Amino acid sequence: MAAVLDSVRAFFAPSVFTIDAENPSDVVARENLLDRAMGPNRRKKSSEKIRRGRIPAEGLALVARDGDGHVIGTVRLWNVEAGVNSEGTPINALLLGPLAVDAAFEGKGIGAALMRAAILEAKNRQHGAILLVGDAAYYERFGFFAEGACHLVMPGPFERSRFLALELVEGWLDGAAGMIVPTGRMLTSAPVRKAA
Ligand SMILES: CC(C)(COP(=O)(O)OP(=O)(O)OC[C@H]1O[C@@H](n2cnc3c(N)ncnc32)[C@H](O)[C@@H]1OP(=O)(O)O)[C@@H](O)C(=O)NCCC(=O)NCCS
Repeated sequence: MAAVLDSVRAFFAPSVFTIDAENPSDVVARENLLDRAMGPNRRKKSSEKIRRGRIPAEGLALVARDGDGHVIGTVRLWNVEAGVNSEGTPINALLLGPLAVDAAFEGKGIGAALMRAAILEAKNRQHGAILLVGDAAYYERFGFFAEGACHLVMPGPFERSRFLALELVEGWLDGAAGMIVPTGRMLTSAPVRKAA
């Protein structure tokens, strides 16, 4: 039944959308979208260990909105160290994910628009490379390939063929080897007020 409703919504869904910076009032809608798109196990992924308790990289939390401003797509990128180079120097990079689009709006180019906006913004902000874990058949069209990450490992189980990299600066990942380590700013929770 849910699949039938999705296809009916898809048929009537307008293809007008905009890409925008995520703001605090989008968080609930973004989390609901991710639960629907990725299922309850999404928080058990190795990528989630890198994201947990952290804030996305500056300017790199994006949403897609429909004509009424509702969140229909999301992508975020995270600061990481991508192992070290051949001289033992840590390599700064970004980890992308999750990327998700509301099922009712799939196939309208929203995922691609989010990816292109994220890559452009990362370049403008002088980042050198983006890593992700995902389907090569989808991400290759944006220039991601497995070879760039072949000596890097995630902190937990991952499928080697799905661990992909895109260099924004040519040669940025040359010799990169080792574990992906989160380096982004920690999420600080609001202080708890105690009654006098
Ligand atoms: C993957 C996802 C973000 C794509 O969003 P979208 O807005 O539908 O993507 P686009 O409209 O830009 O591209 C659609 C094209 O990508 C293809 N595509 C979608 N998912 C794909 C996948 N996993 N592997 C290969 N191709 C894929 C579609 O078949 C379509 O191909 P076509 O252009 O030849 O018709 C969306 O389907 C989604 O949210 N899926 C669930 C969550 C998920 O898997 N996220 C990715 C892992 S982080």
